[in-house]
Amino acid sequence: MARSRRKFLQTALGMGILMPFIKASAGPFAPSACFNYLPGNARRPNPLKILVLGGTGFLGPQQIAYALERGHSITTFNRGRTVPTTQKDVFHKVEQLIGDRENNLEALKNRKWDAVIDNSGNKLNWVKDSAQLLKDNVDLYIYTSSTGVYYPYLGSDIKENTKAVLTVPPGLKEPQLSEYSYGVMKINSELEIRKAFGDNRSIIVRPTYMMGPGDRTERFIYWPVRLGRGGDILVPGKANDPVQYIDVRDVGNWMIRLIEERKSGIYNAVGPASPTGMHPFVYGAYAAFSTPANFIPVTAYDFLKAEKIMEVIPWIMPVDENKGSARINNQHGMANGLTLTPLADSVRDMFDWWNSDDVKQDRRDKLVSGTDALMSREKEILERWKRKR
Ligand SMILES: NC(=O)c1ccc[n+]([C@@H]2O[C@H](COP(=O)([O-])OP(=O)(O)OC[C@H]3O[C@@H](n4cnc5c(N)ncnc54)[C@H](OP(=O)(O)O)[C@@H]3O)[C@@H](O)[C@H]2O)c1
Repeated sequence: MARSRRKFLQTALGMGILMPFIKASAGPFAPSACFNYLPGNARRPNPLKILVLGGTGFLGPQQIAYALERGHSITTFNRGRTVPTTQKDVFHKVEQLIGDRENNLEALKNRKWDAVIDNSGNKLNWVKDSAQLLKDNVDLYIYTSSTGVYYPYLGSDIKENTKAVLTVPPGLKEPQLSEYSYGVMKINSELEIRKAFGDNRSIIVRPTYMMGPGDRTERFIYWPVRLGRGGDILVPGKANDPVQYIDVRDVGNWMIRLIEERKSGIYNAVGPASPTGMHPFVYGAYAAFSTPANFIPVTAYDFLKAEKIMEVIPWIMPVDENKGSARINNQHGMANGLTLTPLADSVRDMFDWWNSDDVKQDRRDKLVSGTDALMSREKEILERWKRKR
């Protein structure tokens, strides 16, 4: 038995039969190797020329790294001001065009690409101008929109065909004004793209709150940092208050696969896979750590409002316009190839990134001990909560 197994190994190695299995066992850190050696090599994508508008912020570097790994070539277009803080080593493999979406699209003229990814389309006229300029020279336009198009979030199962508000109602004050303005800008931008490229040549991706290494906001990072410190932890909201979020790498990689598969249409990009409440979220995120912790649920909305805690992303108090903000349906995306990183992996990666040289000490200090920071106020708030109870 042992002899015939050895013989098989010798013969197989000689014929190269084992190579696919050896390569495929290279582990999670060699995804391109795994992909190249899939049986029959059937799913290796055709190399595509992809233009990325933006590309150096939060989402762009992930898309670019993944696309290069899969054999595509990348051109970026931006002003050359934003310096990428993640995937820094991939940018020397990228053609970098300089311009300004406000008033200088010269570098995009008379060039052809298979697809354009629009990450930086945060003004309606920017999107309109680039869609008009590129419609005859690019096959597919993929736009990073947002679940913000559903504001006010009044539904309980918000699907892609939900009717969106197209104009900002008059007489609004903050924060509603900013929320409406962002959603209205995104939905009208989507419509401009669909008008210029047609529904068969456009893909609209609507992510919810993105988190992950390189996040430029101080939103979701609260939880990796807070849970990593342990101790008495204030958990706002009721156990089943819905929460949604998505790892930026899942969005970026999926957008590249949507292009490869020549999809079209509108997709929510939302995790986790199944509806989740605030408490399961906190326990799931805490699985990344072994620091002792004591969770103290602060469930009364009126108390939280008085303490000015209306949101600690991904938790948003599910009232009024935000009732359905974490009730966005992800089934269409999941059925079309969206995959999701386990929460504890995302949290651990964020924690490691946050404590690396890529984040300035000043930024770390502000999150923990800034005057308005929740972490600075937490102890006192918990004391008041205990007295109230
Ligand atoms: N973060 C979230 O949770 C979230 C959720 C839903 C949707 N979104 C959407 O996701 C998209 C991606 O954001 P991102 O920051 O990750 O994108 P990104 O592509 O990674 O970065 C933004 C890019 O825009 C470029 N840019 C800014 N102003 C420009 C101008 N006038 N002309 C040309 N380029 C310009 C910046 O470079 P320069 O400064 O060098 O020009 C930078 O490369 C955004 O549209 C956002 O609305 C975000």
